[in-house]
Amino acid sequence: MSATPASLPAALLGAFLTELRATFSDREPRGLYQPIDYILDLGGKRVRPLLALLAGRMYGDEDLRQAMPVALAVEVFHNFTLVHDDIMDDSPLRRGQATVHEKWDVNTGILSGDLMLIQAYAHLCRCPNAAALPGLLAAFNRVATGVCEGQQLDVDFETRSDVTVGEYLSMIERKTAVLLGGALEMGALAAGAGSVDAQHLYAFGRLTGLAFQLQDDLLDTFGDSQVTGKRTGNDIIRNKKTFLYLQASAALPPAESAELAALFASSPADPGPKVERVTELMVLAGTPRAVAELRDAYQAEAVAHLTAAGGDPAVKEVLLQLAEDLLQREA
Ligand code: IPE
Ligand code: IPE
Ligand code: MG
Ligand code: MG
Ligand code: MG
Repeated sequence: MSATPASLPAALLGAFLTELRATFSDREPRGLYQPIDYILDLGGKRVRPLLALLAGRMYGDEDLRQAMPVALAVEVFHNFTLVHDDIMDDSPLRRGQATVHEKWDVNTGILSGDLMLIQAYAHLCRCPNAAALPGLLAAFNRVATGVCEGQQLDVDFETRSDVTVGEYLSMIERKTAVLLGGALEMGALAAGAGSVDAQHLYAFGRLTGLAFQLQDDLLDTFGDSQVTGKRTGNDIIRNKKTFLYLQASAALPPAESAELAALFASSPADPGPKVERVTELMVLAGTPRAVAELRDAYQAEAVAHLTAAGGDPAVKEVLLQLAEDLLQREA
């Protein structure tokens, strides 16, 4: 596949979607398989497979044969986590459509999600670079364990009022950043990159992932549901202890900070007024600016690791641009 740097992401994405669609199945029972094709076909940004394929390309995987199984594994795994996450967060909307547990039911979300996790491993095991497979599996296990840990902490924090910024950062590192780092690391390993380069890519992805989750949290409160495809205010409704909440708590005058804490200890039947007031308080606290500053600081740190990695410099440029675009994303 030959493509100029500017057209490379579109070319990789096209190749990935062809492979992904080939996995859609008409197997029985339909109640198990249909929700899997549904969530995978809803789209999304496809960030993680793109990272895996670009990492493979950086180390010579010209025909994408080595990194494609990694790309499929990380995207199917990501979608599995979304199906379960939407149950845990009681989220009605995903990519502008009903979530799996809303369209079907919670049991469907659990079991179809379980099968997606199995399918993710099956994809990974198809990597033709047999020598890389033990390392790939170890990395994938590390990532998957981290995501579960992060998800548990995220839920634990809903009912805690003493969460620190350090705890929040450790939580988002696990639930989100390790997968972005892992997608790059595994794409590079599949293509035969050395461990030093793979670790630089992991570090770049991890820091990009922290910035990515900060932006996700910002959009949850300040984004447009028509664009994000998710219900705006869901984190407020669920009393999520995001950086937005922690920053606002610390920056507000005592009376408003106490009001915010009280709102985050409540779960009203009609959440509208609560979401509206919390959003006002966050604007008062200068929260959007503070989130953007922390997000950009992580991204700047990320770039240093990419610079230190070896590999094709033209592909590196594409990765840098992708990370830059993710900072500005509205969806
Ligand atoms: C959503 O991930 C979950 C997070 C880790 C923030 P994405 O924002 O990558 O979701 P899609 O795949 O593009 O829909
Ligand atoms: C989800 O974080 C992270 C994982 C799915 C592991 P969020 O709960 O913030 O993701 P969204 O906002 O629902 O996409
Ligand atoms: Mg969620
Ligand atoms: Mg969640
Ligand atoms: Mg979110």
